Amino acid sequence: MENFLKTLSVDEKIKLCAGKDYWHMHDLDGKLYLVRNADGPLGLRRDIVNEQGKWIGNRPAVAFPSAQVLAQTWNKSLAYKTGECLADECIEREVDVLLAPGVNVKRDPRCGRNFEYFSEDPYVAGVFGREYINGIQDNHVGTSLKHFCANNIEHGRYWNSSEVDERTLREIYMRAFEVACEANPLTVMSSYNRVNGCLMSENKKLYDILRSEFWREDGLIMSDWYAVRDHVTSVKAGCDLEMPFHEQHYKDLVAAYESGDITEEEIDRCALRVLKVIEQCRVNKAKQQIKTDLEQRMDASQSVATEGAVLLKNNGILPLKQDAKVHIVGMHAGDEYFSGGGSSRVANHQKPTSFDEALGAVMPNAEIGIGSLREGLKFNKAFEDAYGKEAVFYISGDSETEGVDRHDIRISAYDEMQICELASINPNLIVILRYGAAVDVSAWEDKVAAIIYAGYGGCHANEALADLVSGKVNFSGRLAETFAKSLADYPCTANELTHAINRYTDGLDVGYRYFDSHPEKVQYPFGFGLSYSTFEYSDLKVDVDKEKVNISFSIENTSDADGADVAQIYVHEVFPVVYRPYKELSAFEKVFLKAGEKKTVSVTLSHRDFAYYSIAYDKWTVNAGKFEIQVGKNAQDICLTALLELK
Ligand code: GLC
Repeated sequence: MENFLKTLSVDEKIKLCAGKDYWHMHDLDGKLYLVRNADGPLGLRRDIVNEQGKWIGNRPAVAFPSAQVLAQTWNKSLAYKTGECLADECIEREVDVLLAPGVNVKRDPRCGRNFEYFSEDPYVAGVFGREYINGIQDNHVGTSLKHFCANNIEHGRYWNSSEVDERTLREIYMRAFEVACEANPLTVMSSYNRVNGCLMSENKKLYDILRSEFWREDGLIMSDWYAVRDHVTSVKAGCDLEMPFHEQHYKDLVAAYESGDITEEEIDRCALRVLKVIEQCRVNKAKQQIKTDLEQRMDASQSVATEGAVLLKNNGILPLKQDAKVHIVGMHAGDEYFSGGGSSRVANHQKPTSFDEALGAVMPNAEIGIGSLREGLKFNKAFEDAYGKEAVFYISGDSETEGVDRHDIRISAYDEMQICELASINPNLIVILRYGAAVDVSAWEDKVAAIIYAGYGGCHANEALADLVSGKVNFSGRLAETFAKSLADYPCTANELTHAINRYTDGLDVGYRYFDSHPEKVQYPFGFGLSYSTFEYSDLKVDVDKEKVNISFSIENTSDADGADVAQIYVHEVFPVVYRPYKELSAFEKVFLKAGEKKTVSVTLSHRDFAYYSIAYDKWTVNAGKFEIQVGKNAQDICLTALLELK
């Protein structure tokens, strides 16, 4: 492409440094392949515009569960499968780059975009981002890993500065991008916010780390939409592509070149990265083959919703008896399509099956009633209907979105009141939570029989839920974020965000890295989830060689129900020379086991998995000494430990 670049005029190269319009990269009026970008992480959002180019809606697409629910499956192959299906959706709609995945770490449970993100842990976020990218790019469609970086709250996102110390940036907020970049994403999208005062649309320092250490020197960085303040500064910093096209910014760049404020060489650096991506998309196009049909994509969506739902409490009421008398109630008891908003909104291409319909299909002998309070039913009608039933479902949910944060993490006062009232009438109450992030359940948790965190479940959310509560499928979801008892328990609330400054005084103490030292503040720990099965761990063996640490252990399904458990492997440094969180996740495996089955799990860690980022030496550093391998079912349930010595 270097030679082709030489054939272009400066004006043409300047045009390449911005979009042609809202979605496309510039094709130099037909000289180049026309690349179309489109959202989003939960499914393809291809807009429909009228003759005047005005947005009038989104084209129907397969709605996948939220990234939160995908991570709660802890199933790497489902992330890949989701990517594969999304690639086919893109191919059918002639989209070259899907603006996904989002791997921002969930620091603040209020963040309106948490449903689009995977985890509080950077390794889990990075692994799911990596597998998702592989699934898309192995099928010759591009991705845009986003939003680089430390974009962890929506309040004031266009201007506020995430004030993060360098070690925390390295070990937490950039770490997720480092792991995801193992998939070599076609592009990266920088975020709106500032980091330590510098806009991420012009943050040369962090771009250089990204390209030189995690990714590739010629990796294309695009801005988030309208994130660029000063196009000349952005191009100089290495933000190659301003999205979308901005007339004045184009003129500014021309003027800056003509006045000598920016050199042709500086423009060429960005223009060349854009040309390479355009060429990659042109080559991709010729290789594209549809592998899945609509049915298979919806099945994949349902698999994610099924494996990503988390059983938080169960007094034995679940699974339901096949002939149970069941009543479903709540503001969202109907066929409400649950999803987040903003760029992740997907136009579900069919009316979702309602929960009562889905439940009836898998439990034909059950007696199922529904009393959606939205139909103006008299308040006590719902209670009369619920009275005496063997199981009452209360469905509570919301729709979170970019640009807005939640004020609190409790559910609505109305829903809390309903749940408490219903529980006093009938304790066989099962609460279904369809939210985008952690929820404070403390006001009612002890009054109900069961709680299912189902999240935004996509196009077959209710089919998945019905399979789980009927026992047709076993729960295997685990939380990928800590549910604390209340918002105040999260360390990020210690320093409230001012209008422009967001001080990350919690540092490395994000999620379980903090709550391990404050277990009393935890309602449900990172990695937590119940199952109809029970599992036992044994035989931990650890073998250290000069480059690797080989770990093996056994898991047995000690119940009469087939199921799956998620083994988490943590590293704890016994005598650190710097502050380190008590333990950090270094590997995980989801293991499917038939009733009574026992399997041996093997994972291999590299010495990098024991390292911290040293600000003193400016590099990842392993302190020779004692480390403990901790194998657990969740952050607060460690089953096996073994001590090892690194020289
Ligand atoms: C939005 C989002 C980004 C999305 C882009 C295009 O504001 O921040 O995630 O891909 O703009 O819609």
